[in-house]
Amino acid sequence: MCGIVGYVGESSAAPIIVEGLRRLEYRGYDSAGIAVHDGHGVQVVRALGKLRVLAKVLEDRPLAGTTGIGHTRWATHGRPSEENAHPHVAGPVAVVHNGIIENHRALRQELARAGVAFSSDTDTEIIAHLVHRELQAGAAGLLDAVRRAVARLSGAYAIAVLGRDEPGVIVAARQGSPLVIGCGEGEMLCGSDIPALLSHTQQMVFLEDGDVAELRAGGLRVLGADAKPALRPRRHIDWSPVMAERGGYKHFMLKEIHEQPEAVAATLRGRLDLDASSVHPSEIGLGPEAAGALRRVYLVACGTSFHAALVGRYWLESIAQVPTVVELGSEVRYRGALFFPDDLVVAVSQSGETADTIAAVQTAKAAGARVLAVANVLDSAIPRLAHGSLYTRAGPEIGVASTKCFTAQLAALLLLAVYLGRSRGVLPAERAAEILQALCEVPSQMHDLLGDADYVRAVATRLVHARHVLFLGRGLSFPIALEGALKLKEISYVHAEGYAAGEMKHGPIALIEPELPVVVICPQDAAYDKTLSNIQEVRAREGPVVALATKGDESMHDLSEHIIWIPRAPDVVLPLLTVVPLQLLAYYVADRKGHDVDQPRNLAKTVTVE
Ligand code: AGP
Repeated sequence: MCGIVGYVGESSAAPIIVEGLRRLEYRGYDSAGIAVHDGHGVQVVRALGKLRVLAKVLEDRPLAGTTGIGHTRWATHGRPSEENAHPHVAGPVAVVHNGIIENHRALRQELARAGVAFSSDTDTEIIAHLVHRELQAGAAGLLDAVRRAVARLSGAYAIAVLGRDEPGVIVAARQGSPLVIGCGEGEMLCGSDIPALLSHTQQMVFLEDGDVAELRAGGLRVLGADAKPALRPRRHIDWSPVMAERGGYKHFMLKEIHEQPEAVAATLRGRLDLDASSVHPSEIGLGPEAAGALRRVYLVACGTSFHAALVGRYWLESIAQVPTVVELGSEVRYRGALFFPDDLVVAVSQSGETADTIAAVQTAKAAGARVLAVANVLDSAIPRLAHGSLYTRAGPEIGVASTKCFTAQLAALLLLAVYLGRSRGVLPAERAAEILQALCEVPSQMHDLLGDADYVRAVATRLVHARHVLFLGRGLSFPIALEGALKLKEISYVHAEGYAAGEMKHGPIALIEPELPVVVICPQDAAYDKTLSNIQEVRAREGPVVALATKGDESMHDLSEHIIWIPRAPDVVLPLLTVVPLQLLAYYVADRKGHDVDQPRNLAKTVTVE
């Protein structure tokens, strides 16, 4: 949570920082602040509320200077307020921070005993005081002071620091939280993620945990965790700056829904060979022999990624015939989950930074299991921890509600299932060819579905006034029902529940009444007849039905109030298609209600707290 940006160069820092923060606002948006070195000292402006409030204050009170740091906050320690907004200042030092300092209580008491007076409730302010004290104690400059200060911290942090006595310098450090350095022409930037820096440079340096870096307009100096100079390679990032723009769409979420054909196509590109019925996920670091020796796949994830993992389980068991467990990242530690050295633990995470999933990965690694990351953000924490990675290539996802990363995750997991099935000798070549062929047709089928967006918008008007909505699906459509419900609740604030259609009679049927819309995912797949019966049960109790049905399924007309047509496709790829109208449905309901779709209340895109 929280986003940080730093700039040092020859241009005016404040507008560049505000622009970078705008791209990071998805990480937190309850307050924002900026500190700029004006050549004489460090000037700070902070504001409660979204970034636009800060931008307005800066219009009235512009900050001059070519070196600065900024922050957008998602409150952890201390309520959202101007006092708790970053940057935090102690003497000549200003600090912005993303993460959580776990030993903040002990440090706060120690500093208070030494006479420090605090002006906020945050853990971040402690860092500013520690750096200040190291300077007073004779540290050899800001870099050295920050290095000594962070040695006192436990927990996760990415920080950027300005010092009054070193104009033209930003010191940055990371441990557990993301921090990327952007190397421009005569300018250096740092930020919590790649899109914040893209409009300046595509040359990036990824800091390692424990690194402390000094950024100047003309260069970068990095000290590793051992305090010795460290070489961190520059990498060219092939995300273009326009990928992080709204491109004419009203919201990022809508743009990202429409980008799904390309997100899936890019995730498949170069990884499969239709003629040979084979998959080549070279980066996963698991050869056919190791794949054959697997005893179990254990999927861990949170939120939408967890729903992708649930779909993945169906595929891994039916296609690769490998016993598969799915667990929420947040539950792994608390139920004492067992891992074995012949497990493949697949951590699914768009951001690659989700704290609960990271904790699960660490537990699995400690037990000797092999870990594979399915992540969208290059070099993020989970791929770093994992033994291999299968990156989704969805491009930057800015909307807090995940859409294109979900379908890209599904594409990656289906590739994995085919790869394991072939490697383990349980998937005949003809069947593999059918699956891969079906997968390759998904982007164009998605395209057709997106062409019907206006109809979905009309259906959304039916749900705008609903207080509760039930989503039902069976088999591969069950996780999609969960995902449809999650999308609706997180951006429209309508209470929604996803249920396995077969479970309805075990309880939720008591809810059915004319005021409860029921969205039923009922394509003509292996579960069709049974799901049809569930629709009839809803109708018998006067529940209004919105059905997702296969194009041409005439029987659906008598059973549903609204029908959203899905292209005819092999069962195995249906989840990649059925989810698209549900994303649109949630989007249009939220938009009709006038909600801030890209930044729904209380949420942040990257959840780096447990
Ligand atoms: C998705 O719409 C949510 N905002 C959220 O559930 C998200 O999927 C979850 O926090 C996991 O994030 P990750 O994929 O980055 O690990």
